[in-house]
Amino acid sequence: MKDNHKETSQKMSDMENEMTLTNRQGHPITNNQDLRTVGNRGPATLENYDFIEKISHFDRERVPERVVHARGAGAHGYFEAYGTAGDEPVSKYTRAKLFQEKGKRTPVFVRFSSVIHGGHSPETLRDPRGFAVKFYTEDGNWDLVGNNIKIFFIRDAIKFPDMIHAFKPDPITNIQDSERFFDFCASSPESFHMVTFIYSPWGIPANYRQMQGSGVNTYKWVNSEGEAVLVKYHWEPLQGIKNLTQKEAEEIQAKNFNHATQDLYDAIERGDYPEWELYVQIMSDGEHPELDFDPLDDTKLWPNDQFPWKKVGKLVLNKNPEDYFTEVEQAAFGTGVLVDGLDFSDDKMLQGRTFSYSDTQRHRVGANYLQLPINAPKKRVATNQSGGNMQYKVDRAPGQNPHINYEPSILGGLEEAEQPGKEHTPHVEGKLVRQSIDRNDNTKQAGETYRAFEDWERDELISNLVNDLSKCDPRIQEKMIALAEQADDEYGRRLREGLENAKTEQSNLGEGAPLGNIDGEKAPKTAEQ
Ligand code: HEM
Repeated sequence: MKDNHKETSQKMSDMENEMTLTNRQGHPITNNQDLRTVGNRGPATLENYDFIEKISHFDRERVPERVVHARGAGAHGYFEAYGTAGDEPVSKYTRAKLFQEKGKRTPVFVRFSSVIHGGHSPETLRDPRGFAVKFYTEDGNWDLVGNNIKIFFIRDAIKFPDMIHAFKPDPITNIQDSERFFDFCASSPESFHMVTFIYSPWGIPANYRQMQGSGVNTYKWVNSEGEAVLVKYHWEPLQGIKNLTQKEAEEIQAKNFNHATQDLYDAIERGDYPEWELYVQIMSDGEHPELDFDPLDDTKLWPNDQFPWKKVGKLVLNKNPEDYFTEVEQAAFGTGVLVDGLDFSDDKMLQGRTFSYSDTQRHRVGANYLQLPINAPKKRVATNQSGGNMQYKVDRAPGQNPHINYEPSILGGLEEAEQPGKEHTPHVEGKLVRQSIDRNDNTKQAGETYRAFEDWERDELISNLVNDLSKCDPRIQEKMIALAEQADDEYGRRLREGLENAKTEQSNLGEGAPLGNIDGEKAPKTAEQ
């Protein structure tokens, strides 16, 4: 038997063994403690190559963090298909290969995240949680970029940057301010359903393992006949669902602000692999005028009784990353990353998102981010694209004439693939307009969600809303109360009473309470500030 290990060692120079520290040029480092200096008291000289290489790499250790979802944790695993969608063959709805065969496994990488704050912010904050899954399928990658909650704050992508600005810290104080949050939400009533979820215990999942996931936006599935249906994706944790009260979250945060990352990492290390089942809700492709909501409106739930959840497979996470930066920080997910049998719908949020992800990733990670192992598909890639920062290989086919980096050609270049099935060719016609969708009842489902909560969830919702809204301008409070009243009489009444009581308590504290105290009372904002 050949001893490869010995052979490699023999190739090393006399100065090194396998554990020898080198610089990135492969030069062995003989002294990692002392700068090269004139005498042992200095000064240092500029030709200190090893030092300069080391310190200048250190100076560049960070890439820009994600503009949203900066705080996250990731893990590897696999997706196992059931071959069915509920009790029907899955092929009735989609020809995507990863779903077809019962027991078929597709490797995945998953990144969970919180949204608003930076890379080391506490994991106990009231915030949606991201649930992004990269499937390395035989047809190339599919990314399902979802959140824990099944709906969203807005239904039009043009509002996203304003929404995020309002939710992130104030541009002057750098402090997150609930008045800015509610100012935006009160004037964007479509957010009220999501606000109802976020201010309930569902806004603080206990950890990543015990939370749901959802694709939120409406996608399409396409079968071998080119026929499409509208589809929503949902992940259901086999560990059960657990959410926290505000008090429980504060207690955890006082001791550990990495608790969710730690919970995921520790569970996988001890072999307690978390699992989720993937469900879809299916609706025929079309506008569905019989519904009181638009199927493309991501602020709405699709009622389970009309659109039953159909199980299609299982996700298992069984391997921690070997390096956080390489795998988790550099991972790049996007809603445009689909495989044959999956398609976009006309959901306006989905279309806006689809531009945004790869755009930000070319900036955040670099033009060649798709060549990094965590982002590259686990199948052959052959393109005529090359160049750009940090390219380290050419995506060339083995038999390709290397001179031919264009298409079409008869001289041995890359060729187009055959259409794998009948193409889905939706008919689109209409005037170009800037208009909201017609069916935009903003509060009905919020009321249904309020009534579906358990008593303790409703109590938490009211107390959390009162706590943050009581610090806001009374005009914002009135608008939020009006939305709650439209949603549900009791919801509106309890919110109004809670805010009135909070006002009485504040005035009982008496004049002279300091401005900017820990209860959140602030100095008034002026244009000059
Ligand atoms: C991350 C944009 C809505 C889920 C991001 C990032 C951007 C972005 C720029 C950072 C990506 C990166 O640096 O790699 C948008 C826009 C939206 C939108 C423009 C609306 C128009 C949503 C919605 C969801 C969502 C509705 C939930 C379904 C996520 C997740 C991540 C993310 C999970 C983190 C992915 C990761 O772990 O790397 N989004 N987003 N986003 N977004 Fe969105």
